[in-house]
Formats: sequence, C-alpha cells, structure tokens
Amino acid sequence: MDLFSCDVLVVGGGGAGLRAAIAVAEMDPKLRVAVISKVYPMRSHTVSAEGGAAAVIKAGDSLDEHAYDTISGGDWLCDQDAVEAFVREAPEEMVRLEHWGCPWSREPDGHIAVRPFGGMKRERTWFAADKTGFHMLHTLFQTSLKYEPVRRYDECFVTKLLVDEGRCQGVVAIELATGKVLAIAAGAVIVCTGGCGKVFPFTTNANIKNGDGMALAYRAGAPLKDMEFVQYHPTGLPFTGILITEAARSEGGWLLNKDGYRYLQDYDLGKPEPKPVLRSMELGPRDRLSQAFVKEQEKGRTLEGPYGHYVHLDVRHLGEKVIERKIPFVRELCLKYMNIDPVREMIPVRPVVHYMMGGISTDTQGATPLRGLYAAGEAACVSINGANRLGSNSLTELLVFGARAGKAAAAFAAEGGSPSPSLHAQAQDEHRRLEEKFLRKTGGKEKIATLRSEMHQTMETSAGIYRTEPTLKDAAGKLQSLQDRFEDVSLDDHSYTFNTDLTAALELSYMLDVAQTIVQSALERRESRGSHQRTDHPQRDDGAFLKHSLASRGEGGRPRIAYAPVTITRWPPGQRVYGR
Ligand code: FUM
Repeated sequence: MDLFSCDVLVVGGGGAGLRAAIAVAEMDPKLRVAVISKVYPMRSHTVSAEGGAAAVIKAGDSLDEHAYDTISGGDWLCDQDAVEAFVREAPEEMVRLEHWGCPWSREPDGHIAVRPFGGMKRERTWFAADKTGFHMLHTLFQTSLKYEPVRRYDECFVTKLLVDEGRCQGVVAIELATGKVLAIAAGAVIVCTGGCGKVFPFTTNANIKNGDGMALAYRAGAPLKDMEFVQYHPTGLPFTGILITEAARSEGGWLLNKDGYRYLQDYDLGKPEPKPVLRSMELGPRDRLSQAFVKEQEKGRTLEGPYGHYVHLDVRHLGEKVIERKIPFVRELCLKYMNIDPVREMIPVRPVVHYMMGGISTDTQGATPLRGLYAAGEAACVSINGANRLGSNSLTELLVFGARAGKAAAAFAAEGGSPSPSLHAQAQDEHRRLEEKFLRKTGGKEKIATLRSEMHQTMETSAGIYRTEPTLKDAAGKLQSLQDRFEDVSLDDHSYTFNTDLTAALELSYMLDVAQTIVQSALERRESRGSHQRTDHPQRDDGAFLKHSLASRGEGGRPRIAYAPVTITRWPPGQRVYGR
C-alpha cells in the first residue's frame, strides 16, 4: 500500500472541489492541498451545466430580492443565514471568475449579460452562451494549475474516509490504472463529489454521479440532510435524459401539450406577483412545472413515444439567429441525439431527475458535525436550496461555499492535529475488505446490473414526483432486501487495471445507502413541500415539518431520521410567489 499525506484533501475535482482547493492555496501557500478525483477534473459533471449562474449585478435588482426568490422557491426550508451569505458573496465570486478568465456572455455595450431563470423574478443569471459549466470548470481548472501546492490524484476512487478520535483524518482510495491501494492522511478532508442522480433511472446526471461522497460521509457518521428533496428538471430529452437547458425557455421557448396548447396557464405555479417582472409562465419553479406535466399526462394531454410520455418545447419562433447566438448547444444536442433541428421542429421533452437539494449536512462554513470533515457543492446541504432549488443557484453555490469550505478546512488543518497511529491499520483493513469482498471473491449469485435496475425501478415508482405512504414503505423494504442481496455479489473481472466491474459494485453500494436515506426521509415527512409531494398529505405543514431531516446510519445499516430547526432570519414562512 502506498502512503501519502497532505494538509487538506479535497475529494472531487469539479467546480466546488477546484474552488475549495484554490481557496486553501490562496489562504496559506504553506499548506499542502491535494485533489483526488475518480475522473480527470475536466470530466467532472460541472462541465455539463448549461444555463447559467445567478448573482445580482443589474440596477433594479437587490440582494434581498435574490434571497427572497431563493427562500420562497425553496418553500421556506432554506436556512436564511446561509442564503444571506450566499447572495452577498455571489457577485464577488462571479467577478473573481471573470478575472480568472471566464468568458461571460456580454451585452453589445460590453456589460455582463444576464438572462431570466426559473423562479427568479429579476434577470440575474450570468451565462457563457449555454455552455456555462464548461467555461467555469475550464477557468477553475486552469487557475488551479498555477498553484504549486495543489497536488492531484486523478482517476483515483475513494472507498473509505479514515476516522479516529472523532476526527476525519484522510481517505483510502484505489488508483484505477494500477489497482494499487493508497492511504492519504490529511489534516482536513473536503467532500465535493456532486450529487446522486444515478440512483434514478432517468436523469440528466453523468454516470459518475452515484452519491459517493454522501455515502462515504454517512458511513463515517456524518448525517445527510433533507434527502427527500429530489429535483426534477422539466425538460430532458426522452431516452437519454440529456438536459435541454431552462435557457431555452428563458429566451422565450414555450411548453405545449399534444394539442399545441401552452398548458401551464391552467396550473397554479405559485401566487402571481402583482407587478409582473418576468415574461413567461414557462419560467415557473421547476417543482411546479414537473408536477404540472404529471397532471397533464393524467388528463391524457401529453404525447406518447417509445420512451414514455412527453410534451413539446417549441423555440421555433425565436428564429435561427437567436438560437445560434444564445442557445447553440440546445441545437447541437437536438441534432446529435434526436436528429431534430429546433429551428424548424419542436423538441420532445419530459421531466428528468436533475439535482439533489439534500446532501451532507454542513454549517455555513462547510463544516459537518464530524470534526475535520467538510463538504461543498451538490454533495453538501448547507442549506440554501430548501425544498426546491432555483435554476442557476447551484453553479454560484459551488463557488461561494467551495471557497468557504476551503478556507475553513485550511484554518482547521493549520491547527495541526497529528494523524492517529491507527490510520495505517484502518487502511490495511480496508485493503483487505476490497480484496476479500470483491477482487478475490467468486461464486456469488447476484449481478450488479440486476440489483441496479431493481433499485432504479423502486426509486422511480416510489420516490418520483408524487409519493405516498404505501409505495414508500414497499420501497424501504425492497431497498433493504437489495442491500442483503448485495452481500452475494461477485465480480466477473478480477483484474487490477481499470476494473470497471469493481467500481460499478462500489458505486452500487453507495447508491443503495443513499437511496435508503431518500426513501426513509420521504416516508417520515408527512407533508407536501417543494419537490416532495405526498398525495396522502397534500398540504405544507409548517407546524409539524418546518424542519430539516437528518438521516444517520442506524442499527443494521438502516437510516434513522432526526430533525433540526430551519434558520429563519428575516423572512417568516409565507406563500410562494412567482412573477409572470
Ligand atoms: O436548465 C439549466 O440550464 C439548468 C441549470 C441549473 O440546474 O442550475
């Protein structure tokens, strides 16, 4: 086994991870910071973000309005101290990215261009055409390269967090190219591994998004917060789930049912603002739009194709010039994956799992309740997204809270707790587990693909857009039986070079843990709020459930749910408002 050490170890090389690493390096150049990622950083899922990143920039807008939209869009489950910090630091972070070279789209006069986005009453979404994540990730990656102390462990898969004396002190990982096991001791660890959309069968998420970091933290004793809140994005391409960005609607695209009717006018998307500021009903909050799709399907007003029900997104009236300038990637994706040219044809779309509002519970500095462990980005729940994230808040979130987590972890590591002597033995145990349970084991009766597809089926039918007690109870039982059956998995590939059979098994075990926390949290939240809609408890119930759920690993590995208060600073719970 190879042994390494550093002061701060960042797990995950996407936007949050790179921003955190840069923050550590800038704060104290003497600290040794490392980034470990199961993929090369530029392949992280941040790269596929399209529509933009929100931050107040234009006259007429205000930090309070951004905060209010976020809190109201989140159905009052956001921690308002976190939201206030977020909106305040968002513009600084965006300008900093500009200075690092991010090519934000501009107005003809040279000012930053912003577009409207779902649930935001003002135009405050910065963008780089419709490849915003790609440009942000490039900017962060190239900036990270200039810092000497940032060491990278690319294509290394983390299998365990090392914890001793109540403190997270490093990780065990497999170097994918060689199968070698590495133990990396660290003064502080920051988990930035993104979300877990792959727990569901139909998602915009890349194959790498299996909730790795969430499961690692959960196993190490850090609770997962608000896991019942799963965001469906209203416009994914049927079959592939590829995202058709909200920018297509923000530029003026319409959602039409099978009769060519803009059906959203028939639904309550939130209390309309008395003074409309934004232009279209298609820019309502994502939870409400996805729920409207289901209702429309129940009324028999959707279309049906080989990959299920869908509606149409129509951007033809925008014209080729606008499409090419503002949403060229939409055209590229439609041409490549659907053989459809949106300049002339309507785009088939349906709601698709996109984002986890829940994640590793942190405070506003990214610290988890486990000392030495920090988290940021989609893997974390700070929480600024509450029960429903507004589109374009997450790219900014990963900058603001990536930087905050980096600074806090650097300060913690600088205090310099020395590594426990037991770390090496713990790492050897983990090495033995990987060998015995996976690499040398033969004769198991269960197949990874079978268990994964049963998990997908269970999550789709029980934890989708609408949920109910009996199906959630069935799902909890089914997931436990999948956990038991997982014990009888054996691999077909026993080699050490890029063993994707091994990583698929480890990812499945992460997803099963995370799926259990989603289902159990959803089962115990007997109300409807934001993206969590219980048909048997259709109302929001602030009396009983204005609180965060916290899932911890309990007896027999089953999740145990506790609750924590929501921080309300200036905006008492009210009705959701939406401008149209
Ligand atoms: O539609 C989109 O471009 C997605 C943006 C987001 O999730 O923030």
